[in-house]
Amino acid sequence: MMLIRPEQPSDFTAIRAVVATAFAGSQYGYSGESELVDQLRQDGDVVVALVAEDNENNENNESGEVVGHVMFSRLQQPLQCVTLAPVAVLRSHQGTGFGSALIKQGLAELEQDGQWLAAFVVGAPQYYQRFGFSVDAAARFETEYPKEVFMARELSPGGLDRCTSSSVVFAKAFACIAES
Ligand SMILES: CC(C)(COP(=O)(O)OP(=O)(O)OC[C@H]1O[C@@H](n2cnc3c(N)ncnc32)[C@H](O)[C@@H]1OP(=O)(O)O)[C@@H](O)C(=O)NCCC(=O)NCCS
Repeated sequence: MMLIRPEQPSDFTAIRAVVATAFAGSQYGYSGESELVDQLRQDGDVVVALVAEDNENNENNESGEVVGHVMFSRLQQPLQCVTLAPVAVLRSHQGTGFGSALIKQGLAELEQDGQWLAAFVVGAPQYYQRFGFSVDAAARFETEYPKEVFMARELSPGGLDRCTSSSVVFAKAFACIAES
């Protein structure tokens, strides 16, 4: 059984392992995503961070194994916007809905919060379009990322039109990781 819940400090070691191993086996290769997670927390830029637990083999009602993680962090620009990154699921559990559950729950929490205008993500459009992200929605924004993998999705009605900046700048941890 799958459980999605907010991350806790006691999860941090497991999260580091999930993120590092998921990206090591991915088409993108590992490029510091678990350091990115740590740095975003340290900088106070995390808005929503969730873990997925697998309780399949859990007969004693103990907490299950952390098999997935997603983080949403506040942008420097535009204000009241977030980026989804990184999201990671252990290879043994990929393709069984953990990633989708994490992303849907995170987006639902952000929508309920009511203060967020939009979310941005860099990744495979074939994957992220199922959550409402699109390249077209992000087209008018300036970014350092390739346009064909740069997507946006509103978190409140008319959110993208209400953005006061047309340039998108992720939290500063992203630049630190890119330089290392
Ligand atoms: C991307 C990731 C988080 C998806 O989690 P998941 O639990 O495997 O995904 P789900 O089970 O919810 O969804 C599976 C679907 O996503 C698709 N998918 C997964 N990764 C994809 C990718 N990189 N590009 C396109 N589609 C992808 C699968 O083909 C599958 O499609 P289907 O539903 O049409 O069969 C996971 O595969 C992962 O950790 N990958 C390594 C790290 C990574 O690449 N993170 C994202 C960086 S952009």
